[in-house]
Amino acid sequence: MRDGSRASWSGQLAFVLAAAASAIGLGNLWRFPYLAAKYGGGVFIAVYLGLSLTLGFVLLVTEIAIGRYSRQSQITAFGTLGHPKWNFLGVMATLVPLFILPYYNVIGGWVAEYFVQYVKIAFRGGGFEDPSAFFASFTADAWAPFAAMAVFTAITLAVIVMGVKKGIEKANLVMMPALLAMAVALAVYVAAIPGAGKGIRYYLVPDFSSCESIGKVLLGAMGQMFYSLSLAMGIMITYGSYMRRRDSVPKAAVRIVLADTFVAVLAGMMIIPVVVLFASSGSGEIPSGPGLMFETLPAVFTRMGGAGAAVGLAFFTLVLFAALTSAISMTETCVASVCDCFKTSRRKAVAAVGLWTVVLGSVSAFGYGRWSFIKPFGLPALEFFDSAMNILTPVVAAATCVFAGWVLRPRRILAECRRDGSRVWFKTFYVIMIKFVSPVLVATVLASELCRLFGVGGWKL
Ligand code: PHE
Repeated sequence: MRDGSRASWSGQLAFVLAAAASAIGLGNLWRFPYLAAKYGGGVFIAVYLGLSLTLGFVLLVTEIAIGRYSRQSQITAFGTLGHPKWNFLGVMATLVPLFILPYYNVIGGWVAEYFVQYVKIAFRGGGFEDPSAFFASFTADAWAPFAAMAVFTAITLAVIVMGVKKGIEKANLVMMPALLAMAVALAVYVAAIPGAGKGIRYYLVPDFSSCESIGKVLLGAMGQMFYSLSLAMGIMITYGSYMRRRDSVPKAAVRIVLADTFVAVLAGMMIIPVVVLFASSGSGEIPSGPGLMFETLPAVFTRMGGAGAAVGLAFFTLVLFAALTSAISMTETCVASVCDCFKTSRRKAVAAVGLWTVVLGSVSAFGYGRWSFIKPFGLPALEFFDSAMNILTPVVAAATCVFAGWVLRPRRILAECRRDGSRVWFKTFYVIMIKFVSPVLVATVLASELCRLFGVGGWKL
């Protein structure tokens, strides 16, 4: 358990920055604003913040503490803590990033392509004529999506191979402040557009009538929170394993939650008002996911006229940084797992993970073009992997709660939280949450994901 040779972050700030960099990703940008707009604006935001500071906080503390205590990535952490029977959970928690990473990098490749397009647009002026047609032909192209994914993957691998301090930390130190600055600047710019008030009110003012059922608000917020905080993927265990003993786990957890929520709310401030003002859909629905990012928003930027090119470039730089830092965290988790499990060198692990990512990623990259005949359960490969992972994540989260609450016991987690000498003020709360409340809440998310997948009871969030 005491491994002096293990890499470590250079300090508390570096750890928080890295964890926040993982948490702040596509989920914050293309899903949170849509959910908030759909489920009662301010009501959803308040529920989300409340959930993140309770359930999210507890799960974050648990994962980070397991990592720091064991000094291992998730695949060997549970065995190292004296519970080899629970190694299956480590394996499951490793499967999540292993299967998400390849298709996340395909989407990262799409983002990189749009970034390049906007660099060109910024030089020549104008904007996308027809972003939907461009997106359809780009994703169906024989090689372009694969090449874009390969470039995106190469960038993440180049960072990872340099290590925790020299690679990940340095990359975050450049990308995260830039991301934040651009997000604030864009939100301020958007707020100053005449007529933006309508969209801002729509987004921020609580609207109890549009959240028909509090159940849907809660479930939507919970599902979003897991993904957004990068929980149940081994990431926080691995990143926690690099944390110094003198740094505070709970303080870091609160900061990660606040940073992640702040950027999610900010994303809505840049996106919702311009979609309300400029999008032509007319249905009043805020789109989400790839449709929002690669079709609606580019069309909106074109309609903004002269400023559209600069706004588009700033926006896609921001998205690229968010996607890169999240992909870096997933890659690191996979690489650390290979290193810990096979006791191999970092370079070899990077090569293995890189190969896996490109090979499996090609199924998703070609899934809308040359390999579109591969349709597991009738879905394009990318969407199939995404749905499967939406099921596996709550399973891992629930099992982690059971492990921490009933097998390892809360006092071991709390002892890890006390290691830096600080008082732990949330002892009773933690015990009740991790033993009883969290497993039940996580199980309901799993049930709702299953209903969503099989279309039971009209659940669709
Ligand atoms: N948390 C990231 C987001 O909100 C996504 C992510 C998923 C990051 C998986 C790492 C691993 O987009």
